[in-house]
Amino acid sequence: MSKDTLRELTQYRFVQRLGVPRIPVLRRYEPGQPLLDGPALVGAVGKGRFADDVRALLAGAGVAEAGEDGKVAAAVLDATGAHTVDDLAAVQEFLTPAVRRLGPCGRLLLLGPVAAEGDVEAAAVAQAFEGLVRSAGKEVRAGATANLVTVAPDAGADALASTLRFFLSARSAFVSGQVVRVGAPVGPVGADDPARPLAGRIAVVTGAARGIGESIADTLHRDGATIVAVDVPAAGDALARVANRTGGTALQLDITAADAPDRLLAHLRERYGRVDVVVHNAGITRDKLLANMDADRWNSVLAVNLRAQLTINRALLADEGLLGDSARIVCISSMSGIAGNRGQTNYAASKAGVIGMVRALAPQLAPRGATVNAIAPGFIETAMTAKMPLATREAGRRINSLRQGGLPVDVAEAVGWLAQAATAGVTGQVVRVDGQNMLGA
Ligand SMILES: NC(=O)c1ccc[n+]([C@@H]2O[C@H](COP(=O)([O-])OP(=O)(O)OC[C@H]3O[C@@H](n4cnc5c(N)ncnc54)[C@H](O)[C@@H]3O)[C@@H](O)[C@H]2O)c1
Repeated sequence: MSKDTLRELTQYRFVQRLGVPRIPVLRRYEPGQPLLDGPALVGAVGKGRFADDVRALLAGAGVAEAGEDGKVAAAVLDATGAHTVDDLAAVQEFLTPAVRRLGPCGRLLLLGPVAAEGDVEAAAVAQAFEGLVRSAGKEVRAGATANLVTVAPDAGADALASTLRFFLSARSAFVSGQVVRVGAPVGPVGADDPARPLAGRIAVVTGAARGIGESIADTLHRDGATIVAVDVPAAGDALARVANRTGGTALQLDITAADAPDRLLAHLRERYGRVDVVVHNAGITRDKLLANMDADRWNSVLAVNLRAQLTINRALLADEGLLGDSARIVCISSMSGIAGNRGQTNYAASKAGVIGMVRALAPQLAPRGATVNAIAPGFIETAMTAKMPLATREAGRRINSLRQGGLPVDVAEAVGWLAQAATAGVTGQVVRVDGQNMLGA
């Protein structure tokens, strides 16, 4: 990882006095940390389906409700009852003073409405929240984020809780401007333990020897999971260290090998008898302009980043009993797969393919109580991005609302949220972990 020298410099008063704005130091999750480091403001438009549940969740986490004035650590507006343009006036009335009171690394969280079929005004208003929250994400300061969660009429407060907790907590430090839809849960939500939400779960992580995959393994283990760490034989030593640290097993496997799905499934069957979480993280880049692209670069990227995910998923679905009762598949895509990137037609094709796969697979997994989602990281500080030329790296870091690169743990925390049994209402979606990058829709 390379140092973000500019961010460090802007912590000094004398640099700020030169007119260089401070690049915020983000609050990140640590075990035992309170959900929020201050009081929360809770409001509702009309009746609001979830305002009482939000208050109960906050009270249960020891968060006080904010008084008339002073800084707040979070502002949550239950706007599930907003269906007319007039209702939007109440939204502004809550948000304007709330944004002024939002403290450092504060959380602006909107619970948005879902329009009834055929109600054109309600559909317009539901969509209005997306423009609103994406703009708010660009306005809030000092490491604060703004996100929108919509809740389907057939989803209850239990299906919403793990998502609320993720977006309010420091686990979502580098997630802003996102829209997540909570639908009817695909299976029982179950009781969850916010401190160890993955207790007892068996989780496969591909590409676990280093970088983002290593952080995913560590983070899921911290949250209670046992890790099956997968990587190529050449990364064997590093892989063994990760497996030892995470109380799991190492499986040296090239995921593009013809027998890879069989070997992975046999390992899971023999050692554990089931799998609860599969994280498709392994990925490679072989950048070249399309005009200079060769078949090797093209095919190797598609084989690792897309075909291997497809074949492993196909094998998991074909197996009668291996996927646990509340299985979760999380696929690492990329912002390149959403916005495109010069020199990355092969990579962007593979990563956009992952998004297509997730959308098509979600309805097939739902009857089995399982979900599948994609995470699209933006600029993350890893060995890969440290190798970029300085100017490209600087540009990559700054073109997002938080004006810095994310850390591998930011991707890992989002994986941890989607990996929970309690996150049973989120499936077939793409969540960007990119500090609200300016590129792409
Ligand atoms: N770093 C970023 O900024 C960034 C941004 C967007 C998306 N991503 C994606 O995140 C994921 C992890 O990226 P990273 O930066 O940690 O990369 P990395 O190169 O540091 O790690 C990737 C790991 O995958 C393993 N791997 C590669 N091919 C494999 C194969 N055939 N079989 C098994 N393992 C294999 C590698 O050995 C390595 O340990 C990738 O899918 C990448 O495309 C990264």
